[in-house]
Order: sequence, then C-alpha cells, then structure tokens
Amino acid sequence: MEVLLTADELADGIARLSSEVKRNVGRRPLTVVGVLTGSIVLVADLIRRLEGPVTVSMVWASSYRGTATTPGHLELRLDLLPDLTGQDVLLVDDIFDTGHTLKALLGELRRRGAANVRSLVLLRKTGRAEVDIQPDFVGFDIPDKFVVGYGLDFDGDLRHLPHLAALDDDDIAAARGGQVRCSDTSETPS
Ligand code: IMP
Ligand code: MG
Repeated sequence: MEVLLTADELADGIARLSSEVKRNVGRRPLTVVGVLTGSIVLVADLIRRLEGPVTVSMVWASSYRGTATTPGHLELRLDLLPDLTGQDVLLVDDIFDTGHTLKALLGELRRRGAANVRSLVLLRKTGRAEVDIQPDFVGFDIPDKFVVGYGLDFDGDLRHLPHLAALDDDDIAAARGGQVRCSDTSETPS
C-alpha cells in the first residue's frame, strides 16, 4: 500500500474545509448529514471544528459489493433523518468518485424540504465524474486509484487506518486472499 495522505496532511485538509464551511454558513444553524459508513471519521473531525448550532444525522449509501472496486447498484437508506424542512444542510461524504451517490442523496435531501443543501467531500477522484454536479467543498483531488483508510474501506476492512493509502492490483489480490498489509506502519496506532 502506498500512503497518499498522512494523518497530518488529512488534519490540515479538515482544518481548511472547516474554515471554508464556517465562512460560507457563518453561525446559522446547520444540519450535517454524514453518509455511512465511509464518512464517520471525517464527520467526527469536521464537526468538532464548526461553530454555531450543529445537528448531526446520518444516512446510509452503498454501491460496492464485497471485494469489487467498481460501483454497482446504488442502495440508499434515509430513515434516520430528522425533519429537514427549511434547514441549512451540509451533506458529507468520504469521496466523490462517479458522483452518482452524492447526486442521488442531494436530490433526496432537497425533496425533503431542506432550504439550502451543500455538499462536502474529503476526496475527489480525477477524471471519474459521470454526473453534472460537483461537491461545494473538496478536501483533496486524488488520482484514479482505489483508496482506503480514514473511513474508507476495502471489503469492510481498513477504515481504521489513520492515513489514506492507495491499493495497487497486487494489494487488491492479496486483500481478496485476506493478506493485505500496510507497508508503512509508522502511523498505525500501537
Ligand atoms: P460514487 O457514487 O461513484 O461517487 O461513489 C461514492 C462512494 O463509493 C463513496 O461514498 C465510497 O463509499 C465509495 N468509493 C468510491 N471510491 C472508493 C475508493 O477508492 N475506496 C473506497 N470507497 C470508494
Ligand atoms: Mg460511501
């Protein structure tokens, strides 16, 4: 595995993102809607840097199946959402890849009466977008590689890495056999 972004670089990115959100939203009440499961680490770090009233809610989206690294059928679950009528909403996801997840969720949130819906992603993959929208706030543009860590998984594992790593074809083959190992262990918790 190749480390793409260290824990420190990620922390700088979150600081930058939170400043942009604060500039944009000010101290108006904000409902942060995180996308399970990949956004949990990002949401936890981001909300602790926001000011003013913040409500946190989660939706669930999945377009990956097991060890596949290409998107499949998109499944959404929004049953945990509070009433969003008239609310300022910030939709937070880990990564903008094809963009279908973000576009579908933005549509759902607007249908539920949110007054103002913006979107924030930690990562955006280069040259992959298949939709006509872009996130309002982007932490990092990254190459078109399959990435794990800081909330992002491969077949359910590796979300707990404190840094962001890219898997190459050998890593993916090894992971399918249950043997993936991070070559840079300097940042993993002891
Ligand atoms: P999209 O709908 O193609 O934009 O896919 C977005 C979702 O796919 C994200 O919320 C992630 O859950 C997942 N995803 C896309 N690329 C990666 C990756 O490189 N690693 C892990 N998950 C990914
Ligand atoms: Mg996701």
